[in-house]
Amino acid sequence: MTKSLDESLSYFKDKVSDCIRSQKSIFVTTHLDCDGLTSGSIITKALIRAGAKCTVRTSKEFSKNVVESFKTDSRDFHIITDLGGGFANTLDESLGDNWMVLDHHQIPDEELDNQNVINAWRLGMDGGTEICAGGMAYLASMALDEKNSDLSAIAVVSALGDRQDQGEKKSFVGKNFEIARIAKEQGLVEIDLDLLLVGRETRPLPDALAFTSQPFIEGLTWNRDTCLSLLNSSGIQLKEEGRWRVPAELNEEEKRQVIESITKFASGKNATEIMSELIGYTYTFPREDRRSFLRDGREFSTMLNSCGRINRSGVGMAVCMGDRNKILQEAETILTDYRKMIREYMKILSNERWRISESETCVMVNGEDVVPETMTGTISSLIAGSPKNTGKIIILRTKGEQGTIKFSSRKSFSCKSDINLSELMRTGAAKFDGVGGGHDAAAGAKITKDKLDEFLNYLEVNVINMSNGNKSQ
Ligand code: C5P
Repeated sequence: MTKSLDESLSYFKDKVSDCIRSQKSIFVTTHLDCDGLTSGSIITKALIRAGAKCTVRTSKEFSKNVVESFKTDSRDFHIITDLGGGFANTLDESLGDNWMVLDHHQIPDEELDNQNVINAWRLGMDGGTEICAGGMAYLASMALDEKNSDLSAIAVVSALGDRQDQGEKKSFVGKNFEIARIAKEQGLVEIDLDLLLVGRETRPLPDALAFTSQPFIEGLTWNRDTCLSLLNSSGIQLKEEGRWRVPAELNEEEKRQVIESITKFASGKNATEIMSELIGYTYTFPREDRRSFLRDGREFSTMLNSCGRINRSGVGMAVCMGDRNKILQEAETILTDYRKMIREYMKILSNERWRISESETCVMVNGEDVVPETMTGTISSLIAGSPKNTGKIIILRTKGEQGTIKFSSRKSFSCKSDINLSELMRTGAAKFDGVGGGHDAAAGAKITKDKLDEFLNYLEVNVINMSNGNKSQ
């Protein structure tokens, strides 16, 4: 049932205001990816501003154990962001009415009637493209106090981090568009059509081009030497006073020269597709320093992802909540380490061919003993971005803690499959006593190791069957 958004937000406001008035302590639990860190920060900042007694922590997943830990915790009320889908009954049983979820993941039908679940889908919004948890937390913060409209900038980062820039030329649609407009009206973000190179504000031009993997340009991506000679031959000045220039410093004519050189290089190798992916909307935070990794929204989101993925969530949340002191240096180091790790994992996975099994519809990748559990999502997204996997479903697995196996699935670019990966992962994991969920085009699951063969078999049967439009078996 679709509830009214206003009704739900006003319910949230009443409940949280009651907690604040009666000095109840509030515990915010959020996911450790970019959307988790942003949504947790937005709601925590709004709570602090409202004078709430609150604590925030991150969790890499939601499970019965997490709910058990709430029961023994001394805090009175729980707000869960970017997590908790499928756990409404357990939360009701364990915490009574003392909880609320702010989320955008698809949820099972029985949760559609639970008013403590402030979920995008339940409120008539597409949680995959129109709003993410950061946006939901922003709406909730605005329900608490309209002075929180400055938090719209962080909600923009969350939508970028969750790859919700899925409108034409990587624009936003739905509520994300509205939230970005609010941030723009306040002078917090500038939105322009530009070259979408990774590290727009921070990376030397050849590095920015080499590290851009969406689109993946065969011969250029991850090939700095070729990028350097391509840029040299394009005629643009690559250094200024001995310092490498960064993409954000190029003027219009220089951008045109770069585009022309790339088009020439890629000619014959789907050049039109590459160019249409390489130009899109950029989101710049003018109040951040020039050449800071916080100035470009996508780079900001990568930094947050890296913090969560290498267990340094606190650094990311501090930055989201406004800390710009020593913590920035820490964040920068985290970002560098994270990028190094990604390159290393991708190298191993592509060198060790036995890890990959491919069918017409699907690429299965065994990342065991290489990819850490917290980085499966990052790596599966990268594999899905490679042009050789266009149209396919990617399923990456690796070892999780305590004898578990973590799965991460993605639909690659222009994958036309009818499969809903969220349903595939949720239904499948539940069959084998695991937990799964997510979105139509990106979902994860976790099972115990002893169920691995059965689960792989389930995936094999259902990825093929469901691609033909059937329901999971
Ligand atoms: O783990 P991974 O990045 O592959 O997950 C893809 C999406 O599915 C994420 O948004 C994640 O939060 C969600 N997910 C979920 N429930 C799970 C596992 C993943 O909602 N059990």
